[in-house]
Amino acid sequence: MNNTEINIRPMEPADVPIVSAIEQQAFPHPWGEQAFYDCIRVNFKCWVLEIPCSFRANESTVGINSMSSLTESEVDINSICSPTESEVDIKSICSPPPRSGGGDGGEGAVREIVGYAIVMTALDESQLLNIAIAPTHRGKKLGKYLLSWILAQLKATGTKEMFLEVRVSNMTAIHFYETLGFEKIGIRKGYYPLDNGREDAVLYKLEQL
Ligand SMILES: CC(C)(COP(=O)(O)OP(=O)(O)OC[C@H]1O[C@@H](n2cnc3c(N)ncnc32)[C@H](O)[C@@H]1OP(=O)(O)O)[C@@H](O)C(=O)NCCC(=O)NCCS
Repeated sequence: MNNTEINIRPMEPADVPIVSAIEQQAFPHPWGEQAFYDCIRVNFKCWVLEIPCSFRANESTVGINSMSSLTESEVDINSICSPTESEVDIKSICSPPPRSGGGDGGEGAVREIVGYAIVMTALDESQLLNIAIAPTHRGKKLGKYLLSWILAQLKATGTKEMFLEVRVSNMTAIHFYETLGFEKIGIRKGYYPLDNGREDAVLYKLEQL
């Protein structure tokens, strides 16, 4: 995917149902919708990542480049946007172009949210509270793009170190963070709930953003 087709913008309350639908697919013990509304309300840094709406994970059939140049009125939205497993209303998945700037994938592009991240910042430290990419869009470097973009934003606004926790069993996320330069600095015993019991968290830190 071309980076100019990816847009990252602040999460808005209207995005929460879509974000929450991704969350339900991403985690065994997902946040509830209210947690996202609360994060926005208390001014945590909440972002969504959008791409031009397309057939799900099938760019070889319908080129994302060609889609990005079409306007909403030229495109049959129902034919190009796949509903999520949570059956969120299709009109709410595919949104008009963002209000903010950034690579917008072409004037009038119809967009879908496929990822999000939430960060809490205090002084020169930040904590990554949540990040996920929709299952059908993983492995395309979108997570890496999102977190790299966030790290650049945080660096520009004074963050020197970032911390995060990850389940010891979440090897995909552990590889993901280590690829981005995070280093393991400890274990938090019983940090996460399991269906039966608790699971440890690995604590990671990124120095000198
Ligand atoms: C973790 C997550 C955000 C990664 O997003 P993604 O867009 O699929 O990842 P990317 O394609 O950007 O991959 C970047 C790097 O992560 C690592 N990675 C990604 N998927 C991986 C996998 N299935 N197995 C091992 N490493 C993986 C690789 O090092 C990869 O770099 P490489 O392709 O150059 O080797 C995504 O898997 C996800 O949403 N998981 C569920 C939610 C979650 O666990 N969030 C973290 C909670 S702490």
